[in-house]
Amino acid sequence: MASDSGTDSRLPGQRRRTSGEVTPEDPGREPPFLDLDRLEARAREHLPADVFDYYAGGAETETTLREAPGAWRSWRLRPRVLRGVSTVRLATELLGSPVRTPIGVAPWAYQGMAHPGGELATARGAVAAGALMTASTSATSTLEEVAVAAAGTPAWFQLYRLHSTSHTDDLARRAGDAGYRALVLTVDLPLLGRRHRDLRHDFALPADLRMANHPATGDERPTLDDLATATWTFDDIARFGELSGLPVVVKGVLRGDDAARCVQAGASAVWVSTHGGRQVDPAVASAHALPEVVDAVADDVEVYADGGIRTGSDALIALALGATAVFVGRPTIWGLAAGGAEGVARVLTGLTDELAHTMALCGLDDVRSVPRDSVAAAR
Ligand SMILES: Cc1cc2nc3c(=O)[nH]c(=O)nc-3n(C[C@H](O)[C@H](O)[C@H](O)COP(=O)(O)O)c2cc1C
Repeated sequence: MASDSGTDSRLPGQRRRTSGEVTPEDPGREPPFLDLDRLEARAREHLPADVFDYYAGGAETETTLREAPGAWRSWRLRPRVLRGVSTVRLATELLGSPVRTPIGVAPWAYQGMAHPGGELATARGAVAAGALMTASTSATSTLEEVAVAAAGTPAWFQLYRLHSTSHTDDLARRAGDAGYRALVLTVDLPLLGRRHRDLRHDFALPADLRMANHPATGDERPTLDDLATATWTFDDIARFGELSGLPVVVKGVLRGDDAARCVQAGASAVWVSTHGGRQVDPAVASAHALPEVVDAVADDVEVYADGGIRTGSDALIALALGATAVFVGRPTIWGLAAGGAEGVARVLTGLTDELAHTMALCGLDDVRSVPRDSVAAAR
C-alpha cells in the first residue's frame, strides 16, 4: 500500500503475513492479493441481474468492452536491470493537486444502486487510498455532498451537457463553488450508446433512486436519455472554464486531431476513453489511441487514460505511453458493491501496490518519469 508520503518502501518480498490473512486453501476468504475476478463475482451475487448488467455491459457487440484489457497487454514491458531501486515514488500531481497514486476513480453513474453508501462511500475509499475522485453528474448524492466526503483528496466534477442549458451552467458554477479542482466535460455521449444488455432487460433506473443533481419537477423524473442527449462544442471548453472557474478536462477523446483542437480551445487536459466500451462499438481501444493523443498534445497538457485497466502493469504501460494518470471504473464498481468504502480503497491500494511492485521489477523509481522506451509493442 502507498504510504502517506507517497513513497512506498515496502517492496516485493518484504510483505509480512498478519494473522487476518488467508491461505490459498481457504477459499471462503480474501486472497492476499487483489483478485478482481473474485470481487466481480461477489458484486454479481450482491446485485440484481439487470443492475449488474447495467454496470458490466457495453454497447452493441461489446467488442470495445471486451478488447480493452487485452489492448494494454498488446504492449510489453522492457525492464531495466542493475538499477538498485529500493523505493518507488507513487505520488504525483494532477493539474497541480497532489495525489498519492496516479490511479484515480473514473466517474460512474448512480452509485447508490451498487451500495447504500453510493458516491459518498466511493469518495471515502478514494480518500483512504490517496486517489483522485471524479464525481459524476449522474449521481445519487449531490455534488456538494460528494465534495464533502472527498475532502481529504482532490476531486473533479464530471459534467454532461444536459437538455437544459441553464441547469448545465448551474452545475458548472456549483462545482466551482463546492471546491472541485477541475471540471471534466464528457464529450463521448452526445446520445446514449445502444447497450443491448439494458435493452434486453428493458432496464429502468429504480423509481426511488435519488437523482441528486437533477431535482425532479413535479412527478416527472429524468430518463437516461434526458440526461445524456445534448452535444458539447469546442467553444464550450472556454465557456465552461469561465463559468466554473476551474481547469477543464475533456474526457472521451480518441484522436490526436481532436485532442489538439481541445487544447487550442482551452482544455487543460485530455482524457483518452471509450466510456468503458459503452458508446461507439467497435471503437479504437484507449491503449491504441493513447500514443497518438500523447504525440499531439502531451508537450502542452496532461493526458489521462482509462478503459480496461485491471492491473498495476496495465497502469504502468499507460504511464510509459505518456499518460500522467489512469482511471478505473468497473474495478471500483465491484469494490463498492462488494465492500463499500473499504472495498473501493482495497481496489485502489491493491492496484497501486501492483504498480509499485512492477516498477521495482522494471528498475523504475518514479511514476512522474516513466520513459517511453519502457514499453514495446508485443510481437
Ligand atoms: C456503469 C458505468 C457508468 C458510467 N457513468 C459515467 C458517467 O456518469 N460519466 C462519465 O463520464 N463516464 C461514465 N462512465 C465511464 C467511466 O468514467 C470510464 O470511462 C470507464 O468506466 C472506464 O473503463 P473501465 O470500466 O473498464 O475501467 C461509466 C462507466 C460505467 C461502467
